[in-house]
Amino acid sequence: MKMDVLLGLQWGDEGKGKVVDYLAPAYEMVARFQGGPNAGHTLEFDGIKHVLHQIPSGIFRNNIHNIIGNGVVLDPVVLKKEIEALKKFNIDFRKNLAISKKATIILPTHKLLDAAYEKSKGEKKIGSTLKGIGPTYQDKIGRVALRVGDMLAPDFKERYLDISDRHRSILDYYQYKLNDLPALEGEFFDAVEFFKSLNLVETEFEVNAAIRAGRKVLAEGAQGSLLDIDFGSYPFVTSSSTMTAGACTGLGVPPSVIGEVFGIFKAYCTRVGSGPFPTELFNEEGEQMRRDGNEFGSTTGRARRCGWLDLPALKYSIMINGVTQLFMMKADVLNNFEQIRVCTGYELPDGSVTDHYLTGSSDEVIKPVYKTLKGWNCSLDEVAHYKDFPDELINYVEFLENELNVPINMVSVGPDRKKTILK
Ligand code: GDP
Ligand code: IMO
Ligand code: MG
Repeated sequence: MKMDVLLGLQWGDEGKGKVVDYLAPAYEMVARFQGGPNAGHTLEFDGIKHVLHQIPSGIFRNNIHNIIGNGVVLDPVVLKKEIEALKKFNIDFRKNLAISKKATIILPTHKLLDAAYEKSKGEKKIGSTLKGIGPTYQDKIGRVALRVGDMLAPDFKERYLDISDRHRSILDYYQYKLNDLPALEGEFFDAVEFFKSLNLVETEFEVNAAIRAGRKVLAEGAQGSLLDIDFGSYPFVTSSSTMTAGACTGLGVPPSVIGEVFGIFKAYCTRVGSGPFPTELFNEEGEQMRRDGNEFGSTTGRARRCGWLDLPALKYSIMINGVTQLFMMKADVLNNFEQIRVCTGYELPDGSVTDHYLTGSSDEVIKPVYKTLKGWNCSLDEVAHYKDFPDELINYVEFLENELNVPINMVSVGPDRKKTILK
């Protein structure tokens, strides 16, 4: 009678989609609890590659009920496109997907506001995905947003006009051109009609009933802990609670039902968008990670910033989430490094060293302190069992486990479902 939670522990794109898809056969329900189309979760199997934005990553497995919870901000236009793109898989969306009537709707004007706010910030922009995430959560907290359940109201159009009029005044203040708006609104209202054919329910009842009935439920996080609205590197964060606690508020389940917390991290770090990144590499090593890891955004295509693993940051994420098991992703991307560095602390301007993650503003002047380990420097293509890993990789895993005090129970060595090694 527990719900397990799977989260990214870094700045997103750790490989959550791959792992949820891999673990899904052990579950009967997979539920997204926050974020929206800013997420891009990649799944690879049987020679196909698929990127999901709002649909939970359990969708390709039979007999899994997928939930989009109340904590999600949902773009109907994107969801319609996602469903259409999955046509060839013959998925019964009415049966296998339920959408919370309490999820907040991303409106066309939210996307324009996102762009207007970013433009007005100039150099200080967040580097948002421009999917309307911030403005939509702003309206949710401001108690003026529209929710999925509102689509069923006869006066939905009037409600839309009421809120979009307010948005237009703000856009006018920013002198933002509205040329694209009529086309966006056309698509939006088409998608709203399509939405009415989907399974729109109070998902909190479904999730709690499943847990009470002893069915296995997995909550799928989006983004990462270091992008959390409270604990991330504010203001360079997303607008939702990306941590374990967010799974409770984003699905309507009590904290007492949380079971395992699976924390996913890359064997190194990446970040897309602006904000502090203490171990970022600006040299050939960073280029190599980007090249070998194909580190380009799944949602926006932007090049991801790359750097060495940051242990203070990882320890912090483990602490705020209560992680019980770690999964290390993309180990294969480090195959061609003779040496691997890991940041174990930060040197402060006064020369002292701390292993506390400094979550504050980007102007903190800190210098990472590194430990250097020997790289395995060989391909992992043929490895099928943990015990067959090269000694240096086993040494890397054991070093991290020692530092983090949480077992690393899975190591991922390629994007395909099959390239997953359990300990
Ligand atoms: P998510 O947002 O956390 O689901 O991650 P993304 O899908 O945005 O980014 C992870 C990328 O790494 C995707 O392109 C995956 O196919 C890929 N990937 C996942 N695991 C591995 C791995 O172990 N090795 C390699 N080389 N790629 C991986
Ligand atoms: P997944 O689920 C990586 C980043 C953006 C930007 C900041 C705020 O695929 O791991 P937003 O559009 O949310 O207002 O952008 O957060 N960001 C992500 N980075 N992976 C994601 O999702 C992200 N979702 C948002 O790049 O820096
Ligand atoms: Mg992603």
